[in-house]
Amino acid sequence: MSQRPEFSPAPGSTTIKVVLNQAERFLQRNDGQTARLDAEILLGFVLGIERSRLVIEADTKLENDEAEAFNGLVNKRAKHEPVAYLTGAKEFWSMSFKVDPRVLIPRPDTETVLELVQELFQTHKPCRFVDVGCGSACIACGLASLFARVSGVAVDRAEGALSVAKQNIQNHGLSARVETRLGDLLEPVSHERFDIICANLPYIPTAALDDLPLDIKLYEPLTALDGGVDGLDCIRRLISQAPANLDYQGWLIMEVGAGQADQVDQLCSRAGLVEIQRHKDLSGIERVVAAQWLLKPQ
Ligand SMILES: C[S@@+](CC[C@H](N)C(=O)[O-])C[C@H]1O[C@@H](n2cnc3c(N)ncnc32)[C@H](O)[C@@H]1O
Repeated sequence: MSQRPEFSPAPGSTTIKVVLNQAERFLQRNDGQTARLDAEILLGFVLGIERSRLVIEADTKLENDEAEAFNGLVNKRAKHEPVAYLTGAKEFWSMSFKVDPRVLIPRPDTETVLELVQELFQTHKPCRFVDVGCGSACIACGLASLFARVSGVAVDRAEGALSVAKQNIQNHGLSARVETRLGDLLEPVSHERFDIICANLPYIPTAALDDLPLDIKLYEPLTALDGGVDGLDCIRRLISQAPANLDYQGWLIMEVGAGQADQVDQLCSRAGLVEIQRHKDLSGIERVVAAQWLLKPQ
């Protein structure tokens, strides 16, 4: 089998402008749909400067160690390693989150969950939430950042994910308001009631995992993606558990996969949840299903 050529411009002889152009062409040849952007983020990361400064510093020469570090990252990117894992960070809800292969990289679509919380809860009253399948804790931190009197629990069944979540909660100064618990769905909070249960759980049908882009398939945790035969294994169980953990007038807010909103809507309704709402993401896909619990606890 022929070896894929490596990206290795001679260190010491190259400027920011030149090396960016070379990396862009190299990544394009290797399937890179976002070649220029990726090259800029990676070079900004290596040099410790904002992307916008790369233009101003276009004629600056790279030091040897900088060029070598950049070459290494470009080669990894050409093998589909996600930029966020290479830099160790991803922006979500205008906050920076530490990420590594133990957690799913936060997606812009997931911000739909927080937009909906903002719509439903324009309140300054104390409010309790649980984020189920928290991963990096992007939803939990985003939610806590919305209202000063909100507090909650971030749950994940993966120890590695929970350790990343803890660091992010700490980095955002939210440890006093957001705690982490290890376990399956709502089991770690089984005796508590919440105003908000939010969740972005795995929802990809097992048979569709093989069709995912290589960036995802090769690097992101399968346990964060695999939703079982119809993709709804976790979501179905969460909906059946939710009424026992929702306060009167509390909301269950879930991210779902494309084409799953109808089924999830019906599951909510069968569980006795009402006021069911479906919200589209920026691509027009029904991405979030929310439902309210209107029975007072006995
Ligand atoms: C799709 S990822 C979402 C992560 C994060 N909430 C986000 O939006 O980026 C799903 C997360 O749910 C966790 N998970 C999967 N099944 C779970 C279960 N039964 N109980 C708790 N967490 C679960 C996975 O470990 C993973 O971190």
